[in-house]
Amino acid sequence: MAGKQPLNIVKMKNMKQSGEPLTMLTAYDYPSAKLAEEAGMDMILVGDSLGNVVLGYTSTIPVTLDDMVYHTRSVARGAESTFIVADMPFMTYHGGIDETLRGVRRLMQEGHAHAVKLEGGAEIADTVKRIVQSGVPVLGHIGLTPQSVNQIGGYRIQGKDVKDAQRLMEDAKALEAAGAFAVVLELVTEEAAAEISKALTIPTIGIGAGRHCDGQVLVYHDILKYASPYRDKRFVKTYADVGTIIRNGISQYVKEVKERSFPAEEHVFKSDQKAAIEAALYGGKEKVNAT
Ligand code: KIV
Repeated sequence: MAGKQPLNIVKMKNMKQSGEPLTMLTAYDYPSAKLAEEAGMDMILVGDSLGNVVLGYTSTIPVTLDDMVYHTRSVARGAESTFIVADMPFMTYHGGIDETLRGVRRLMQEGHAHAVKLEGGAEIADTVKRIVQSGVPVLGHIGLTPQSVNQIGGYRIQGKDVKDAQRLMEDAKALEAAGAFAVVLELVTEEAAAEISKALTIPTIGIGAGRHCDGQVLVYHDILKYASPYRDKRFVKTYADVGTIIRNGISQYVKEVKERSFPAEEHVFKSDQKAAIEAALYGGKEKVNAT
């Protein structure tokens, strides 16, 4: 709720210890952030899923730092009392550390995020460490990492066999050791996610990773059936069918304008000088000059 202090990373760790689940939802603009905050969301993720559900791309790869800064800033205006995490977009943290920190600075200073999220495991642990050392909380993200979808070969479930589950565990531990405050597990088998959640002292936040994570995150447009291309995924639950409500409302508007039932009497502004106005404006006809 507005006026309240946002959650912080110390309280998140305490919530894990006490067994209280963390809630996280994506948001991309002022109204989605405002509604998420009013609904009592613990954290908002300005995800680069922005590319899919708001900007109409087929992957997150085209999303730019400018896009993320712009959308994070509107989310921050809508949810002043909620902890906001912004995604570092594709290829903004694989060059030099200076470039990475410039991106982090923009998301924090211009976007007003409280933390940033990076996709990857052990291979980005040094980068995570440098960002954390600069005083910025980092949320890790392993399992299915959509920015690497072309390398992974599609949206595949991770951690199906022992070797893959061990790799995920090593990645999670590397992120924890690098100072990440929590780790997103995306499309990970419930068995692997449960073991990782037990092994870490920081919270795990699952999306399609089963029931034993310390928190859950889902995409705004998915749970509200709001024109999302992914709403039919197994791990998504529809909590409200906003898409149908909006579509029906718009069709009704089209119909009423076409049949001239909108605007009606109650929607118009009247003058008490009807006759004088009609006379002065010649009832919409050209004035004929008498000769
Ligand atoms: O971009 C996003 O929405 C995400 C979530 C799927 C975790 O990274």
